[in-house]
Amino acid sequence: MKLGILNGGGDCAGLNAVIRAVVRKSEQFGYEVIGIRHGWAGLLDLDTVPLTWRDVSQIISQGGTILHTTRTNPFSRNDGAGTVLANVGKLGLDALVAVGGEDTLSVAAKLSSMGLKVVGVPKTIDNDIVATDMTFGFDTAVNVTVEAIDRIQTTGESHDRIMVVEVMGRHAGWIAAYAGIASGASLILVPEEPINLDEVAAFLKKRHDSGATASIVVVGEGCIFKGYPTATTTKADEFGHVRLGGIGDLLARELEKRVGIETRAVVLGHVVRGGAPSAYDRILATRLAVAAVQSIKDGEFGIMVRVQGNTVSKVPLSDIVGKMKNLDKETLSIVKDFSV
Ligand code: F6P
Repeated sequence: MKLGILNGGGDCAGLNAVIRAVVRKSEQFGYEVIGIRHGWAGLLDLDTVPLTWRDVSQIISQGGTILHTTRTNPFSRNDGAGTVLANVGKLGLDALVAVGGEDTLSVAAKLSSMGLKVVGVPKTIDNDIVATDMTFGFDTAVNVTVEAIDRIQTTGESHDRIMVVEVMGRHAGWIAAYAGIASGASLILVPEEPINLDEVAAFLKKRHDSGATASIVVVGEGCIFKGYPTATTTKADEFGHVRLGGIGDLLARELEKRVGIETRAVVLGHVVRGGAPSAYDRILATRLAVAAVQSIKDGEFGIMVRVQGNTVSKVPLSDIVGKMKNLDKETLSIVKDFSV
């Protein structure tokens, strides 16, 4: 049996852990593993590398991905899907492990319906994939964000400033909410709730009038302010996603004007995506990899392995296509209760 493994979309901490575990578990079953480089592009261009236990030794602690990644969508290319399927045949792959977010896994789902034997593994710092409680990469991103906010807090306090911290997460507020709650932020703004700038300014004014000398405002990059254009560039990737970012600066400028307190914006951006994975992410990645290889051994394809509660199980890939997991009600209500 010969397996291929690829990762697509934005990198995240834990990708190397999943690659390592797929190789280790496959070798236990006597399977050969081929790494596909640069996501789906590697299956369009036959950009591959053999992977043995030696190649994955000690990569569990490394950030990024040894396979590199792109946001290539074979379905946006002329006969891209046909080329991918033909190249899977040329490489002699019996099955493929596709590690990615909703974009990569949706491609996997479509290819599965065209006959590809594929198993999906969810990953993203955004934690926005439906049908799984957690994605690896998220825990690391939250921990790095919390550490950064703790630091921003002390400088903000020293200068009596409002510090706006913009975080990634696309259109879901998981990173903003978890990092904001864990760092004791004064106000957490998430994309799930369009924001009324007057209300935000009034909240901060009241806060400072009643004695606060500094405030931390965490804002998700995908936030939308009522009455303001969204802060995006026009550049879209092959899956149609525009590049987000800029809401933090816009918010800081508006708040300084309206509240009358010096306000600075910090964009954490890619800082929280890179670097060594947390222990939690290493373990989750390993568990999902083991389940993926076991599924292949059992002849179960067209599924995504996932974690629910603390149990790893499977769900049809088709169940997650075109969906996004937004903040749940409980987290959203904590976000509101602790904005003080
Ligand atoms: O999906 C992960 C993510 O980090 C998002 O939070 C962010 O909007 C996007 O990727 C940024 O992607 P890129 O590094 O390609 O600009």
